[in-house]
Amino acid sequence: LVPRLESPPATIVIFGASGDLARRKLVPALHSLGCEGLLSPATYLVGVARTPLSDEEFRNRLYSGVVEYARLHPGICELWPRFADRISYLAGDYDDSETYRRLGAHLTRLAAGHGTQDNVLFHLAVPPMLYPLIVEQLGRAGLHRSDGGWRRIVIEKPFGRDLVSARQLNAQVHAVFDEACVYRIDHYLGKETVQNILTFRFANAIFEPLWNRNYVDHVQITVAEQVGVEHRAGYYDQTGVLRDMFQSHMLQLLTLTAMEPPAVYSADALRDEKVKVLQAIRPMALEDCVVGQYEGYRGVAGVAPDSCTPTFAALRLYVDNWRWQGVPFYLRSGKRLARKATSITLQFKQVPHLLFAESADLAPNSLSLCIQPDEGMHLRFQTKLPGAGMRTAPVDMAFHHGEHFGAKALPDAYERLLLDALQGDAALFARSNEIELAWRLIDPLTGERESLSYAPGSDGPAEADVLLARDGRWWVEWCGAP
Ligand code: BG6
Repeated sequence: LVPRLESPPATIVIFGASGDLARRKLVPALHSLGCEGLLSPATYLVGVARTPLSDEEFRNRLYSGVVEYARLHPGICELWPRFADRISYLAGDYDDSETYRRLGAHLTRLAAGHGTQDNVLFHLAVPPMLYPLIVEQLGRAGLHRSDGGWRRIVIEKPFGRDLVSARQLNAQVHAVFDEACVYRIDHYLGKETVQNILTFRFANAIFEPLWNRNYVDHVQITVAEQVGVEHRAGYYDQTGVLRDMFQSHMLQLLTLTAMEPPAVYSADALRDEKVKVLQAIRPMALEDCVVGQYEGYRGVAGVAPDSCTPTFAALRLYVDNWRWQGVPFYLRSGKRLARKATSITLQFKQVPHLLFAESADLAPNSLSLCIQPDEGMHLRFQTKLPGAGMRTAPVDMAFHHGEHFGAKALPDAYERLLLDALQGDAALFARSNEIELAWRLIDPLTGERESLSYAPGSDGPAEADVLLARDGRWWVEWCGAP
């Protein structure tokens, strides 16, 4: 393996540091990076939040998160005491300029005495309604710029809740930070197997010639979850699956699957190609989209008793360009489904002429990229059944990531994303126009309408099958399905 470069010295400022994201994701990811020697020893972490906490209380809270969630936990590497020494906490209100004055003084001290070179990565791990306020206050306090170092800001999804609000938020952010300093997280892009879509397509010569309308009959993208809305009902009931999953993760998977090869591997070249796919997607009509809600959802604490919020959606779309004209893409995602599985399947066209009369309903070839949980690739093709005659059967040629690289080889998405942000590589972050184009596609589907009910533990509402059946197609097995 080619070693990745260590991050430059920097201070990471997490707003909303007393919350779940910092404890479960951000700090465990930083800890694992540190264990792998990928963090500069001059990396400092400053937590900012309203809850009054001492440095010690904050560190203890983070430590419990690292023990519970880090891929490389403190039993594996001995980083924590040194790491903890570089963590501090600042309690303050987000709308109080004093908070930012104290933060500024602290950053100056770290730059002067601890070699951070005045590089600062701000990370907004707060509810989205606070994004504009914090960005504005950072600007007012002059913390968005530095004479000697760099300043960047990481913003979590959801980025807006429709095109209008996303545009407004982009404008508010751009009033303070240049686009080049803005890192909008879609954690799916941090997943190793999502990045592997690019490697698979553009580091192999044998698949790309088939990757187009001449050979591909259709494409299916499934992100199935077993969990329900759990403790996030307050957010989810206002959001629903189309905003929560389709505008972001599903369209990211689609663009990586459908894009043209960029001329070079750079943040802008890559994102330009993704944007071209979004521009080529034909606007969807309501009949291209089936929405469902799992039975029992309305009884979850925090969900309106008459909620129509969809927890499942399946849709059909077309990418109107030379590569994909006429090839339907079927996307589905939902909660409380039979199992957790994220996969992308290219189903190839039928052979042009069938020689073997005994195998009249030959299943076509398919190639599945299994993103999670059993990461790998499956190529399905026909083989002759042993014995007399020419009967055939589909078989599976499989590659399993875990078997090949080991179980702990896959870094958490946040490890990759935080390291990239520290290194100034925005390739795996969404650009402003990408976000807006995605909303423009999803907005027409999010109007209030009755969701079809489906049983928890099922594959979603039966109408999702009709979406394909009317085109003479069917959903393929999920990756990892028995
Ligand atoms: C989040 C959504 O972005 O992604 C959640 O808000 C969803 O609703 C989650 O459960 C799925 O992520 P993963 O990594 O578990 O597939």
